[in-house]
Amino acid sequence: HAKNRVAVIGSGNWGCVASRLIASNTTKLPSFYDEVRMWVFEEVLLTGNKLSESINQVNENCKYLPGIKLGANVIADPDLENAVKDANMLVFVTPHQFVEGICKKLVGKLRLGAQAISLIKGMEVKTEGPCMISKLITDILGINCCVLMGANIASEIAVEKFSEATIGYKKDKEVAIRWAKLFTMPYFLVSIVEDIEGVELCGTLKNVVAIAAGLVDGLDMGNNTKAAIMRIGLREMCAFSKLLFPSVRDNTFFESCGVADLITTCLGGRNRRVAEAFARNGGKRFLV
Ligand code: NAD
Ligand code: 13P
Repeated sequence: HAKNRVAVIGSGNWGCVASRLIASNTTKLPSFYDEVRMWVFEEVLLTGNKLSESINQVNENCKYLPGIKLGANVIADPDLENAVKDANMLVFVTPHQFVEGICKKLVGKLRLGAQAISLIKGMEVKTEGPCMISKLITDILGINCCVLMGANIASEIAVEKFSEATIGYKKDKEVAIRWAKLFTMPYFLVSIVEDIEGVELCGTLKNVVAIAAGLVDGLDMGNNTKAAIMRIGLREMCAFSKLLFPSVRDNTFFESCGVADLITTCLGGRNRRVAEAFARNGGKRFLV
């Protein structure tokens, strides 16, 4: 079997932690080349240095994940085409609004037989209706795309605190298993589920519930109310998902991507935090 080469598209908080996880595994698994190219949306730091150069100098993203070494085999690359050109496994982990533009730049630039996975929690809402990010990637690039979602607050995984994750796939179980191998660590347990829409919708819709949970916190409404929001929110996530995709399975909501991600995001996520700040300021200003 030919060796696999991985590129990560995105280098924010979760992008860096995912690169670190992957890079630790590629050095140990013989079926992967060690090097992990990480595409960086170039920014100039307050020091005047470029972010990508700074990452390569200190092996750390001082803006989005300060204090965490990424692994010597993570190479930051601000050139999108160059970052992906040799890779046959592409990990998408940017904020969702940038995916369409990135994919358009990559048309005709990928290796034959390339596979993708999306770690992005969100969807594009177009005039024709909602479009999942994995579908956007598949439609624009003509490649298969799995998803990885779960109760995964990046800052906790960065310091190797235990969590679980769920990979959603469509038909090709072998590919899903290959992705699971790439991500699994003793502190990061990955399961696979043949329900890509269900897994991706869980990761997307829990953000709406987390905003409601943050408002409850900001208004000091208490834990019982917050638990009610989470329970009703989970039920609505399930109903809404099935309305969009009747194939979505109930069991998916009991995986890490479902109830576990909902809980962790309503307790410690950024969506919760921004909503709490909004409520505490009388709905006037965002102070996070
Ligand atoms: P982030 O919010 O930490 O950082 C934003 C990133 O976007 C930075 O890398 C920035 O350079 C980049 N960026 C800014 N402008 C851009 C542009 N025009 N084009 C492309 N990139 C640009 O990012 P993150 O936390 O890595 O989030 C990425 C995805 O991962 C999101 O969909 C999020 O829901 C998901 N996610 C995040 C976490 C977490 O704990 N942070 C956990 C699970 C999933
Ligand atoms: P936030 O984007 O709300 O921080 O959620 C992170 C997350 O997805 C945890 O699994």
